[in-house]
Amino acid sequence: MSKANRFDQNAATWDMSNMRQMLAKNIYDAIVKNIELNDTMEVIDFGAGTGLLSRNIALHVRSLLGVDTSSGMLEKLNELGCENISTFHGDICKFETEKKYDGIVSAMTMHHVEHLDELFVKLHELLKEGSFIAIADLMKEDGTFHADNDGVHHFGFDEEYLLSLAQKHGFSNVRYQKIFDVQKEAKEPYGIFLLTASR
Ligand SMILES: C[S@@+](CC[C@H](N)C(=O)[O-])C[C@H]1O[C@@H](n2cnc3c(N)ncnc32)[C@H](O)[C@@H]1O
Repeated sequence: MSKANRFDQNAATWDMSNMRQMLAKNIYDAIVKNIELNDTMEVIDFGAGTGLLSRNIALHVRSLLGVDTSSGMLEKLNELGCENISTFHGDICKFETEKKYDGIVSAMTMHHVEHLDELFVKLHELLKEGSFIAIADLMKEDGTFHADNDGVHHFGFDEEYLLSLAQKHGFSNVRYQKIFDVQKEAKEPYGIFLLTASR
């Protein structure tokens, strides 16, 4: 089953998970603590899914575009009826537009993106001078976070790798910080990081 189909199948019950709600809320809290959002900004949330992060970020900005490869997840996001949220169905790495954005956020998605050089080239291309990225995901893990690793291209990320990736693609003020731990079953806690940088 492709990863898009897997997310399509989970879309109806996605928001019912307390863990996903908690992840999105903690990531939102960390983003607003680290980035000064304002109501002139136009931002992208890549891997927006059902909008657990997007719906809160959208409260602070002029508009938010949710980009996602799963039409099922985006259907749930569109059902929210948030006036300043629009959606694009497709791969962030292939998203083409003339428009330049003020910022890009993302929660728990980068480990599903296979080619990270391609991703960072695209993020840089989509952003204005003086804009930001704020990307949260799993710190390096042993491959046990997901029950099924189909569509999981990276078992988390370490600081050294992401700092050099972001710098290589022209970002400055790059910062990787652990923002919280998530406990799953009886396993060791998994760290969640926030990567912030300026374009
Ligand atoms: C783990 S979910 C996270 C959803 C949401 N951010 C949240 O925190 O609830 C990952 C999402 O990324 C989407 N996705 C995976 N690869 C993608 C890509 N290359 N471009 C855009 N979306 C992608 C999936 O369809 C899925 O909705």
